[in-house]
Amino acid sequence: MAATELARAVAVIMDGNGRWADQRGLPVAEGHRAGTKALRRTVEAAIDLGVESLAVYAFSTENWARPVDEVEDLMEIFGDTIVRELPDLAKEGVRVRFVGRRDRAPAGLLAQMEALEAETVDNDKLRLWICFDYGGRGELVEAVRQIVTAGVDPADVDDELVA
Ligand code: IPE
Ligand code: MG
Repeated sequence: MAATELARAVAVIMDGNGRWADQRGLPVAEGHRAGTKALRRTVEAAIDLGVESLAVYAFSTENWARPVDEVEDLMEIFGDTIVRELPDLAKEGVRVRFVGRRDRAPAGLLAQMEALEAETVDNDKLRLWICFDYGGRGELVEAVRQIVTAGVDPADVDDELVA
């Protein structure tokens, strides 16, 4: 392919799962499951195109506020998806890493996330970043907490410190 202008890094916000399911009269969980298939196709396309880095926003900090049943379904779907996709991701040279908080993920899911990272650690064809329990707001809260804990003088709070 004679692509001279190729995005080296692509970020995708996963959205529309609920609407997709609604339009088909299906439960929202089916929309989330379909979303994982769409993610698989996106990863395949990124590999085919030669994209170096793909970031996907899969579950934001704010998503915890969704109905308990939906959150439970999502956690189950994440785990199922890791189990289903791990072999191909490993084989196709994808290195997977998770971004975001890890302390609120169910223990079983966390173990699956860590296994996926460990089993793809030597891959370098595509870097896949999965944002989970991640959010700009949560990140700011964490930064402020650390700054306050460190007893920083307000006059010393600047771009560099926050970064
Ligand atoms: C994305 O789809 C779901 C997650 C990333 C958790 P939505 O569930 O937000 O779908 P809509 O916006 O209701 O269609
Ligand atoms: Mg949405």
